[in-house]
Amino acid sequence: MTTTSEQASADMSEVPPSNTMRAIVQRAFGSADTLQPTDIEMPRIEADEVLVEVQAAGVDRGVWHLMMGMPYLVRLAGFGFTKPKTPTPGLDVAGRVVAVGSSVSRFEIGDDVFGIARGSYAEYAPAKESKLAHKPANVSFEQAAVAAISGITALQGLTDVAKLEPGRRVLVIGASGGVGTFAVQLAKALGADVTGVASGRKLELVRSLGADHAIDYATTDYLDGAIKYDLILDAGGLNPLRRLRKALKNDGTLVIVGGEGGGRITGGIGRQLRAVLVSPFISQRLTMFISTESHTHIERLAEYMASGRVTSAIGRRYRLEEVPAAIADLEAGNASGKSVILVRESEGNHAK
Ligand SMILES: NC(=O)c1ccc[n+]([C@@H]2O[C@H](COP(=O)([O-])OP(=O)(O)OC[C@H]3O[C@@H](n4cnc5c(N)ncnc54)[C@H](OP(=O)(O)O)[C@@H]3O)[C@@H](O)[C@H]2O)c1
Repeated sequence: MTTTSEQASADMSEVPPSNTMRAIVQRAFGSADTLQPTDIEMPRIEADEVLVEVQAAGVDRGVWHLMMGMPYLVRLAGFGFTKPKTPTPGLDVAGRVVAVGSSVSRFEIGDDVFGIARGSYAEYAPAKESKLAHKPANVSFEQAAVAAISGITALQGLTDVAKLEPGRRVLVIGASGGVGTFAVQLAKALGADVTGVASGRKLELVRSLGADHAIDYATTDYLDGAIKYDLILDAGGLNPLRRLRKALKNDGTLVIVGGEGGGRITGGIGRQLRAVLVSPFISQRLTMFISTESHTHIERLAEYMASGRVTSAIGRRYRLEEVPAAIADLEAGNASGKSVILVRESEGNHAK
């Protein structure tokens, strides 16, 4: 009888490269200094996975949390207790399928894909079939590489959770970030009047994404209640619930996506839990969610991208060896929109 791993390795016979590849490796939780470019063994795929020849990979907050092992809740959630469970970081990916596991039915060798992998800061990355979609032909690898995690979070927050309808007034807090840059564009595509909140130096970006109004959080109290919103999508700033409620209509909805700086143990998740506890007793709807990483959501996002209604807001570009700098820049607040790691330098990587 053939075992899963034997089957997977048999399927990998199509793979041309040597037994090793270049990858970023992390042996202990910690800052970006713990990330080392290294030659390592080619990854093996499980039966429900494909092997992606990585063209480009995305940088997002989740990668930073998994690198640091913080908040500690991340470790309890199964990502490793004293060191990362997956030594190669990187989640968002775009590239070409070069091997398929025995139970994979949606992809074939040669397909161009994007989505969420296990270790995308490498020349090759395994990814579950259920977390990948076909890359639209008119979307470049770099555009696709930064889209999945932030894009599906914005999409689910606005549609599945908030049930946004045309004509609504929406406030996106964190509009210059990964989730926010997608949320501004998606809310516009869904027919909303959109206000984006970001730092002053990134307001031009927020406007360029189609926001009707852009507010600098450092100079304006955007939650003073002078304008009331139907929906607040909160992806930055850790504002207390009482302040967020002040800017929400009586029948408005608050969707908390997340926010940084909430403490080493829980990361400030208490705010989300309080929102859910309070919500049944008031007229406003206060809610939070953890995005579902499934291909159906990535495919929905792909449709928006293929139609040109949503584009990845790529800020900085880095080479594979520069992953530590990319993550340090994100931590320092220097990233704007999404940063991309160009693992292979080829023409198809770039935006058309
Ligand atoms: N629930 C989920 O499933 C889910 C999924 C993805 C991400 N998240 C979480 O959601 C949060 C946002 O993710 P992201 O990838 O968009 O992060 P990001 O790219 O780092 O963006 C953060 C955003 O917050 C803004 N911001 C920073 N300080 C602020 C302040 N004091 N007031 C208002 N806005 C402020 C930033 O603006 P400037 O850069 O202009 O300063 C930026 O627009 C993170 O905490 C992440 O962990 C949750």
